[in-house]
Amino acid sequence: MNLAQKTLQFTPASLSDLEQIMVIERVSFAYPWTEGMVRSELNDAPLSFSYVTRDLEKNQIIAYVFMRVLYDELHLLSIAVDPAWRRQGIGEALIALVLETVREKNLKRVTLEVRISNRAACQLYRKFGFKEVGLRRKYYCKPTENGLVFQYEAKTEPLTGTIGQYRALTQKGGMMTMHEEQLIVEALRKESYEFRSLEKTHLELEASLEVMNKRKILSSDEELQKKKAQKEKLAVKDSMEMMIREYDLAGEAKVRVG
Ligand SMILES: CC(C)(COP(=O)(O)OP(=O)(O)OC[C@H]1O[C@@H](n2cnc3c(N)ncnc32)[C@H](O)[C@@H]1OP(=O)(O)O)[C@@H](O)C(=O)NCCC(=O)NCCS
Repeated sequence: MNLAQKTLQFTPASLSDLEQIMVIERVSFAYPWTEGMVRSELNDAPLSFSYVTRDLEKNQIIAYVFMRVLYDELHLLSIAVDPAWRRQGIGEALIALVLETVREKNLKRVTLEVRISNRAACQLYRKFGFKEVGLRRKYYCKPTENGLVFQYEAKTEPLTGTIGQYRALTQKGGMMTMHEEQLIVEALRKESYEFRSLEKTHLELEASLEVMNKRKILSSDEELQKKKAQKEKLAVKDSMEMMIREYDLAGEAKVRVG
């Protein structure tokens, strides 16, 4: 572990970080995400997770990572380090955080896409044992380029026990950890048709919004449609969160994973 990694602190990203994230995003990628795309990641609990790390002296964001849980895997959506801070171990620390998230959430693997020419990122992923598992032809634009698909298979044993046992072990109060939340999500996926269809609707709305966000000009009808989709997505997310909270309140013994 080098100096940078020892002193880094990661905190969940919030909407107030948007502007600083955009500065790094724009200098890091040939075809950067738009503010709308980044904002939707920052808004997207419970299935999206974003972290930033700061230069503590200047209170300035120097790196970030966006991840999303898709069924039993974690999709690494984006990772970037401010150019002035590269080659100091921050990229490694971010990947370590990603792998910790996978373990904490008891997920099976990490998947990501990367431009075939992105040597730095490919080397970083290989260093952590990610394997190339596929090629997406012409996946990227500006410039058009193939994407490599990398995967990391988690080596953890499946979780056993109930949420109650886990809570007793961690000896904490009423707040739900990400780990507990994931246990409840897994249980709801198995037990509740309603939750599964909410999750499906959420992903569909997200995909259609992503398409709309990529387009520079929308007609007034399309703008309305976009607003409606955003509202619907928030409502779906609220319902999912409500089910997660109520499950936690209702019955600990119900959940048994593994
Ligand atoms: C990829 C990126 C996140 C790496 O961050 P970083 O903080 O510079 O990386 P680290 O200092 O932790 O380096 C870790 C390893 O990555 C690889 N690496 C990083 N930069 C590299 C470079 N310029 N050339 C070759 N390998 C490189 C090396 O394997 C390095 O290990 P080493 O120091 O033992 O050689 C950074 O270059 C970046 O933000 N790039 C622009 C955004 C991007 O491409 N994101 C990935 C999208 S999929």
